[in-house]
Amino acid sequence: MRVLIADKFEKSGLCGLEAVGCTVLFRPDVKEDSLLEAIRLEQPDVLIVRSTNVTEPMLDAGPIKLIVRAGAGYNTIDVAAASRRGIYVSNCPGQNSVAVAELAFGLILALDRRIADNVAQLREGRWNKGEFSKAKGILGSTLGLIGLGKIGQEMVPRAIAFGMRVVGWSRSLTPEAAAAVGIERAESPEEAAAQSDIVSVHLALSQGTRGLISTSFFDAMLPGAMFINTSRGEVVDEAALLSAMKAKSIRAGLDVYQDEPSGASGDFINEIADMPGLYGTHHIGASTDQAQEAIAAETVRIVRVFKETGTVPNVVNIATSTPATHKLIVRHRDRPGVLADVFDILKAADINVQETQNIVFDGALAAVAQIDIDSPLPDSVLLEVRAGNSDIIDVTMIAKAASDS
Ligand code: 3PG
Repeated sequence: MRVLIADKFEKSGLCGLEAVGCTVLFRPDVKEDSLLEAIRLEQPDVLIVRSTNVTEPMLDAGPIKLIVRAGAGYNTIDVAAASRRGIYVSNCPGQNSVAVAELAFGLILALDRRIADNVAQLREGRWNKGEFSKAKGILGSTLGLIGLGKIGQEMVPRAIAFGMRVVGWSRSLTPEAAAAVGIERAESPEEAAAQSDIVSVHLALSQGTRGLISTSFFDAMLPGAMFINTSRGEVVDEAALLSAMKAKSIRAGLDVYQDEPSGASGDFINEIADMPGLYGTHHIGASTDQAQEAIAAETVRIVRVFKETGTVPNVVNIATSTPATHKLIVRHRDRPGVLADVFDILKAADINVQETQNIVFDGALAAVAQIDIDSPLPDSVLLEVRAGNSDIIDVTMIAKAASDS
């Protein structure tokens, strides 16, 4: 199996992939056209990336069957185009959550004590204890978490350890789930913002979250509060944040930006970076040795399982429901050609097969095929299936419940 890695990747991961018998093509610097060319040249079965963009033309440049996002967010991959081609996209959820939560707390503490400005003035040869002695402290303050996935959840025990009250909002957070992790639930992002001395955003980028944190959110924030974003820049209306920083002294700790470069270095010209109230880092949330080792190990596991079994862990683009309306159940003697005959009849009746499974009984003499189909079979076709092969024992059809289609 040929594996092209188009990003920085841990040595342990490279060795792990080789150890499971992959041919590893490590090209950490290829991007855009050079990545397209590398795929054309190397013909990989698997493509591994971090934040490197994966575009539709790349998917047609070689025999890629699996794309692994060596990280959590996969918004840089054209997942819809991969789905149209039957290419799996997998990620490594949770493996870098602690690292991101640690950075979010780093930004909170750094903003509260103005650590970066302290350091800058010392480096300039200036002692300024008078100015930098002014800080509020975070004990007893309220932290609003927007998004309570794996990273948001890692924020909770850290906040509690600092003696903070935690209010959380996510689309799926129920009051019971909030209580179970020791936090209070807000009805909306704005309600969380209105109660919080510090808000921290932990949302994946999707159609539903793009621009979710906008003017109404910043209007609800308390004057002088802190706004932390270590998730994705596109979740936040950056112009609205900038206005809030100017109008109500919001201080921001950002690791991600709307138009950040996708590579490891480059120019970054952004008005927000010049704001004295901004402490900005360079999308380094996941970049600790610990997190990268965990990501590398998970990536190797995904590729190994795929290579050895054909199934893929952590797939993000499998349909959660299919157009199947009915399940055809064919009990048969386990001999060659039985299912081929069933499928021939379905084809002639213009019935589209969705998912299918063949369960073999002890001794491998008999089996039951469960074939999801997109419309019911008329009785005449059911009879045709039953009579279509002498090794078919019986045939039944059931309507699928809406919940399992
Ligand atoms: C992620 O989605 O896993 C993080 O944002 C890290 O991104 P990176 O792999 O580009 O550092």
